[in-house]
Amino acid sequence: MKLLILLGLVALTKARVIADDNENCNGVIVNGINHEKQILKENVDKPYQLALDYDTNTLYFSYTATDGSVFRSAYINLKTNEFGTIKGIRGGFANAVDPKTHKIYIGGSDGIYVVNENSQTAVKTDITDLNIWQVFVKDDVYFTSYPDENAYVYKDGETKIVPEIGDAKAMLLAVDKNHDIYYYNSSGVFHYNKADGTTKNIGDNTVNGFTHDSNDNIFFSTPTGVYSVKDNSVTKVVGINNIYGAAIAADGSIIYAADNSIVKLKSTGHECSTELEVLHL
Ligand SMILES: *[C@@H]1O[C@H](CO)[C@@H](O)[C@H](O)[C@H]1NC(C)=O
Repeated sequence: MKLLILLGLVALTKARVIADDNENCNGVIVNGINHEKQILKENVDKPYQLALDYDTNTLYFSYTATDGSVFRSAYINLKTNEFGTIKGIRGGFANAVDPKTHKIYIGGSDGIYVVNENSQTAVKTDITDLNIWQVFVKDDVYFTSYPDENAYVYKDGETKIVPEIGDAKAMLLAVDKNHDIYYYNSSGVFHYNKADGTTKNIGDNTVNGFTHDSNDNIFFSTPTGVYSVKDNSVTKVVGINNIYGAAIAADGSIIYAADNSIVKLKSTGHECSTELEVLHL
């Protein structure tokens, strides 16, 4: 009898611990840590191509403006929450920050612009007059065109097709610190290895954006999650549905675009190990 009561008590205590832990683990789990969703900006339709300026902690992104089907580039200062749209640009769609100079580049329907951060106004460059899909800056300015899906690089005052990609199509691309190139086209995700000059297919994910963290590590987002990518390996960081794009905060937190908002995954510091699930069984 005593033993039964004792066993019952143990079971009860265990059940409570599990219940607590389930509560603390009901957010989004990233690397075994529970995270809660913090809304950074609401009422922005399908935010796309997020780019974070680590210098000013300002996030640039495009969204579908309510007045028709035009794309507009906007910014939100993550320190002050100040939000505004970028003026002086036709169809702001692609956003990128040069990690070295902190210059902000925006691709529109008639070329590439540089943003004056004091007035948040875009000034057109003479890099190209093409309709831009995406821009990525790593020492040089890389960009892709729409609808022909060609990849270009602007280097030493000259614009040419990215030689490493050549005739292959590329909708989205990223360049890492070794100048390896990651790109996405309708055939899949590819990695160009600068050291040996080879190109490998590294995944069949439907990529909707490439991004990097403050240490120039490369990530990409798909409609179902955020992945980190290094050389030939792709690792899932978090699974979330209906993602339109992502950026990585200076502290490594994931910022992602949802259907109508921009969300940051904030760590609660609570470990949600798989051992608990074993206990639960
Ligand atoms: C995508 O890129 C790969 C690697 O360069 C290439 O083999 C393939 O033909 C490309 N797909 C398209 C549709 O261009």
